[in-house]
Amino acid sequence: MNEYKFSNSWFQVAKPVWDRLLTDFRPTKILEIGSFEGASACYMIEKLGAHHSIDLHCVDTWEGGIEHAADGTFSANMGQVEKRFHENLAVARTKVSHPFSVYVHRFRSDIVLATLLAQGKANYFDLIYVDGSHQAPDVLFDAVVGFKLLAVEGMMIFDDYTWSEDLPGGKDILRCPKPAIDAFVNLNFRKLRVLNEPTNQFYVVKTSD
Ligand SMILES: C[S@@+](CC[C@H](N)C(=O)[O-])C[C@H]1O[C@@H](n2cnc3c(N)ncnc32)[C@H](O)[C@@H]1O
Repeated sequence: MNEYKFSNSWFQVAKPVWDRLLTDFRPTKILEIGSFEGASACYMIEKLGAHHSIDLHCVDTWEGGIEHAADGTFSANMGQVEKRFHENLAVARTKVSHPFSVYVHRFRSDIVLATLLAQGKANYFDLIYVDGSHQAPDVLFDAVVGFKLLAVEGMMIFDDYTWSEDLPGGKDILRCPKPAIDAFVNLNFRKLRVLNEPTNQFYVVKTSD
């Protein structure tokens, strides 16, 4: 059967906002950090591929985040998750009229982003979705180097802005995205515009290089 298979509904929460934003904003070169089973990737392919061709770069280790390290079941299932990503992308291919290209980078995001920058892709992407590691130092790297890769008037979206773990000793400020996103936004205050949206995601538009 030609239907997607997703084991969760993570992306559904933000979908109404993306539906609205992507009505006027039509990115063609997209970088996604954190693809999992491909829910957000397939959404972008369907939504944008109905109007024009897109190039989508998907970055994932398919090893899960360190918050999942203690959960042996989660790590063991990542092979299945990666397989489902490819199967879901094959389904997406049958649903759009315009051709699209997907570049799968099966490495850590720091390596991929640094490589893309070294390949001359500064100011290249119209949309960057940051949904990989949720550890503050990693999110900061993805934000800072991702911003270099983002074109002026391009949009960067961070997932899980207020997410944190319930750890035995309480919340750990280094194990969540918010401090990194805040630091990045504050330091680039003159180069971006923050969009006010009612979700757990954080949206910025690059206004200058
Ligand atoms: C929350 S999931 C992504 C969800 C996806 N965007 C969706 O809509 O279903 C996070 C993904 O990031 C990946 N990941 C975690 N740390 C990473 C890193 N440092 N580099 C690349 N991928 C990473 C994990 O393997 C996992 O698949």
